[in-house]
Amino acid sequence: MVKRTAMLFAGAVLGTVVAVGTASADDAAKGEKIFKSKCRTCHVIDNGSKHKVGPDLAGVLSRGAGKADGYKYSKNLAKADFNWDEEKLDTWLSNPRKFIKGTKMTFKLRKEDDREHVIAYLMKVAK
Ligand code: HEC
Repeated sequence: MVKRTAMLFAGAVLGTVVAVGTASADDAAKGEKIFKSKCRTCHVIDNGSKHKVGPDLAGVLSRGAGKADGYKYSKNLAKADFNWDEEKLDTWLSNPRKFIKGTKMTFKLRKEDDREHVIAYLMKVAK
């Protein structure tokens, strides 16, 4: 009886680990598609200096908000003093103007799932 419970427990833990593992890889893959269809009009993720309408997002997670070399940010983003993380990106993408007053990025990613996926993608490729 004890043995059976232990096995069931081990099975449950294993199942969770596997599910989490596949979900995040899958999320990033879905996020890449969203990035290509919705963000790439204005952003590349290249070497950090190939700006379009918006800044090149390569390294955006480590360089600090509003810090891409050679990109002319709006005043408030230029003087921002924080690092992008999952939570901030989620607030930003749901409504940039609400997060940083006067920002030039007006595009909103309204669907929560889409935000989650595109953020998983950024976490992977925009470090
Ligand atoms: C219509 C053009 C446009 C689209 C579409 C767009 N952005 Fe932006 N984005 C901008 C602009 C312009 C800025 C700079 C804003 C400023 O200076 O206030 C920016 C800034 C950013 C920043 C902050 C960069 C930094 O260096 O701190 C992130 C992160 C970002 N965008 C992510 C995204 C993602 C992810 C998507 C797609 C879901 C997206 N953007 C779609 C124009 C766009």
